[in-house]
Amino acid sequence: MKPRLLFATTNPGKLRELRGLVGDAVEVVSLSDLPPIPEPVEDQDTFEGNAEKKAREYAEATGLPALADDSGLCVDALGGRPGVYSARYAEGSDKARYEKLLGELSGVPDDERTAAFVCALCLALPGRGRAIIEVGRCEGRIGHEPRGSHGFGYDPVFVLPQGKALAELTSEEKAGISHRGVAFRKMRPHLLALAGGSPVGG
Ligand code: IMP
Repeated sequence: MKPRLLFATTNPGKLRELRGLVGDAVEVVSLSDLPPIPEPVEDQDTFEGNAEKKAREYAEATGLPALADDSGLCVDALGGRPGVYSARYAEGSDKARYEKLLGELSGVPDDERTAAFVCALCLALPGRGRAIIEVGRCEGRIGHEPRGSHGFGYDPVFVLPQGKALAELTSEEKAGISHRGVAFRKMRPHLLALAGGSPVGG
């Protein structure tokens, strides 16, 4: 029988990306497919810590192998901020958050505007001690004004080394290079091992 995996998200884009990656080998369900489960508090100070906390709590709550992610934007000139606080960096919309970022970086020259999106993914099995963590990064720098209409969050102000803003890429192009895409592809063998009956994580 096909193993079931809970991907602890309600984001349809992330779910589609994961399903594309594991194909038919694993039945991926999301939080939207299950009765409501109390949401773990993301109170750790690293992406890995938050992803692991979520994956372990969801695995225990459901009895299913659980995959959870945490991601954000780390800006070198701000000592790595907003980091794990990326979603809470400013009240209101994505636009309010990237405008605050552009404000904080006003006057900072191009070569000091380096930044990276980081995504930590954690796979936890119910009742098991060990959890598997994979991290993906996408390097770039913060531009001076928003560009492009795709994506979400800080995409319009995140400029890739090739010169385009992330928001100027299609979702397929973004998945090929994004922090989340990199982390998903690193996690893929561990997810496929669920189907092979291998003792994931030992
Ligand atoms: P989450 O971990 O997916 O909830 O993301 C946390 C926050 O980091 C989001 O609310 C965005 O502000 C930011 N973020 C994470 N990934 C991306 C991305 O691919 N593009 C733009 N912003 C992102």
